[in-house]
Amino acid sequence: MKEKLEAMKNEALEAISKANDSSSLNDIRVRYLGKSGEMTLLMRGLGNVSKEERPILGKMFNDVRGEIESALESKTSIIVEQEKQARLLAEDIDVTLPSTFEGFGTLHPLSKTKKEIVDTFLEMGFTVDEGPEIETDMFNFQLLNVPKDHPAREMQDTFYVGDEMVLRTQTSSMQARIMTTQKPPIRVIIPGKVYRSDDDVSHSPIFHQIEGLAVDKHITMGDLQGCLEAFAEKVFSKDTKVRLRPSYFPFTEPSVEVDVTCSVCHGKGCSVCKHTGWVEILGAGVVNPVVLDMCGIDSKEYSGFAFGLGVERIAMIKYGIPNIKLLYENDVRFLKQFDK
Ligand code: PHE
Repeated sequence: MKEKLEAMKNEALEAISKANDSSSLNDIRVRYLGKSGEMTLLMRGLGNVSKEERPILGKMFNDVRGEIESALESKTSIIVEQEKQARLLAEDIDVTLPSTFEGFGTLHPLSKTKKEIVDTFLEMGFTVDEGPEIETDMFNFQLLNVPKDHPAREMQDTFYVGDEMVLRTQTSSMQARIMTTQKPPIRVIIPGKVYRSDDDVSHSPIFHQIEGLAVDKHITMGDLQGCLEAFAEKVFSKDTKVRLRPSYFPFTEPSVEVDVTCSVCHGKGCSVCKHTGWVEILGAGVVNPVVLDMCGIDSKEYSGFAFGLGVERIAMIKYGIPNIKLLYENDVRFLKQFDK
């Protein structure tokens, strides 16, 4: 029995010394020390040996088990370390190599312009609202004093999507929506997309407007002018002047078109302002009392002003962009110029 035990021990130690990965070490453990391994099989023979010999052999078994276990243990730690080193080598990363950084994205010039305008009016105490782009004829036209056969419909080339439904041609539709549902005082701006059948270097069939509406007691054209002056100074530059020219819109009376001194040449005259020193930026006016009354606000008690501006137009003037299409092509070489 002693010889068998000795032979088994040598066999196991040799196998351990030859093993070179953790899974074969595990196989060796199972084969020699496992529940039905060789050690267990040999121990069964202990029942047949004499009483005197039994404790001596028992101690030998324990010693052999201990020897095999510690050999396994030390070999395991060597192999685990080797395997770790091999893995680190295989996954080698050179953290000192220069990176392939692609740069951060930035706001699109239209988003940037819109944000600046909205922020300016927020500072003046306006709130921001939004509304549907598929609009009823009622809100887009009729409640704004443009009945079905009115010649003013010709001013805007409308996309009809049904007898009574249009793609809104102006964010002014939201004036009607707000005035029919809210009580004064009202101070709101409405940014949004609008649609017109129009397409050239300064027009696109889909573009962005920002509508402004203030309704309260004693609101006058002077309030409109003050508001627009503050807006122009903030969005263009401190020295920007504002000029109101008489105009016509069915929903404002009186109506004005608003010009600012050209931000490219500061009024001296250049190609952007067609050598006039002024550029038109928006339409506005005092809310027509007829509209107030149609929307359920008493025109004897309240008055208001409204304006509507094109975001593309403001961006084109501000940055000297010659063609509206540049704003939609998303050519990175163009967009990068606003990366500041
Ligand atoms: N809705 C007009 C347009 O799109 C602009 C406007 C808005 C004019 C509000 C007066 C008052 O041309």
